[in-house]
Amino acid sequence: MKKVITYGTFDLLHFGHVNLLNKAKALGDYLIVGVTSDFYDQSRGKLNVKQTVMERIENIKKLQIADEIIIEEFEGQKLDDIIKYNIDIFAIGSDWLGKFDYLKSYCNVVYIERTRGISSSQIRESDYGILKLGIIGYGRIANRFIRESKFVSGINIEGAFGINLDKVSFFANKHELNFFESNIDNFLDKVDAVYIASPHNTHYEYIKKSLLKGKHVLCEKPLVLNYSELMDVIKISKKNSLVLMEAVKTAYSPGFLKLLSIAKSGIIGQIKHVSASFSKLIEGDFRELRKSENGGSFTELGTYPLLIISKLFGTNYKSIRFTSYFDESKNVDLFTNLTIVYEHGIGIANTGLGVKTDGQLIISGTKGFIYVPSPWWKTEYFELKFEDSNFDKKYFYKFEGDGLRYEISEFLNLIQTKKINHQKVSIKELKFFAKVMQIFLDEKMTKKIK
Ligand code: CTP
Repeated sequence: MKKVITYGTFDLLHFGHVNLLNKAKALGDYLIVGVTSDFYDQSRGKLNVKQTVMERIENIKKLQIADEIIIEEFEGQKLDDIIKYNIDIFAIGSDWLGKFDYLKSYCNVVYIERTRGISSSQIRESDYGILKLGIIGYGRIANRFIRESKFVSGINIEGAFGINLDKVSFFANKHELNFFESNIDNFLDKVDAVYIASPHNTHYEYIKKSLLKGKHVLCEKPLVLNYSELMDVIKISKKNSLVLMEAVKTAYSPGFLKLLSIAKSGIIGQIKHVSASFSKLIEGDFRELRKSENGGSFTELGTYPLLIISKLFGTNYKSIRFTSYFDESKNVDLFTNLTIVYEHGIGIANTGLGVKTDGQLIISGTKGFIYVPSPWWKTEYFELKFEDSNFDKKYFYKFEGDGLRYEISEFLNLIQTKKINHQKVSIKELKFFAKVMQIFLDEKMTKKIK
């Protein structure tokens, strides 16, 4: 029996795929189709896939051309599969011409003429169009956001809003945006969605205005500074079926998602302690150090540790305590230690703007621990460590660029597929972040050190 194997993403299955599969099948007697996993697509930078791996597999199954369907999960798997399944022919579309010649010492490699005039990318563009996005704010992160958005297809940054007309016009011209506005209503009329990167204490107002005008919202952390504001904006977003997403880039990156699944798999036993630090030394007259703009290390950086703590321990904690070193003249925290006690574990967060710590993450369990070196929030590498070091394991994943591309692509996908309830950061977690921020800002649970 002649066995043939072929691979692809097969997103939004089209007749080009069907032709390819028929031709591949005709080359032998038995056809295996490898469909890329969601994680593999993400980690190789294919960020615009609309259907989940299960939806894509279902579509191929229905065609009844493949005799077997497998999932392609990592680079280098093709060779493993060829040996494992005793493959005679590796078939792939002609757009890959020459790329798989290295497999010729293991089986025949056939490049099948690609069907002209159709591709998943084309369908995505014509079905979903281009999302017109506007930016509120023009600071450092807004600049980075524009750079990163270029890696996501299907989205265009149209214009910017800012109260300072000179600054917003400079920003818009620098990035060759189509427009700039200092009137929020005019700005919102010109876009489908917004990214908010203005000072923390302005988020609530801009989120609310945008949602009420029917615009989807991606907002920098902290989304809002207290619980009632959060409940208010969640209510509006639900009522209008709009996406409201907090821009915690870590939550959407492939390495972090893998870290979570490994930590939750039980391989290090029951998790009892999570300690996450993030520091960024800042001096000078910056928003991060201004009390009037709710600056300070915890509001600035606290969402990252809260993300990992809530992902692993949940949101029902027993007690919470902050210890902070405050700048006496500026009255913002330059360092904060947060200890959250749960029934079954302890979460520790350390954030610093005026105190430097190693930005590492340690997840300790009853059988071993996971060590993620700095910068753990751009998760690229982590180690599993055990009492017997023979069982230690190392993992490596790519975190591309500044990593904002992952949250941008997630935001776009949620809007385009209308899966607004499938957010990687749940409403429960958003509520937890807002509640903890509020407790911190109330200062009642905070012990101050000099
Ligand atoms: N293919 C084909 N003819 C097309 C499109 C795809 O023969 N018009 C083949 C590819 O060469 C590959 C397989 O179908 O062997 C799966 O390709 P995939 O990348 O999933 O499809 P594309 O439509 O090319 O997707 P995209 O636009 O996202 O690159």
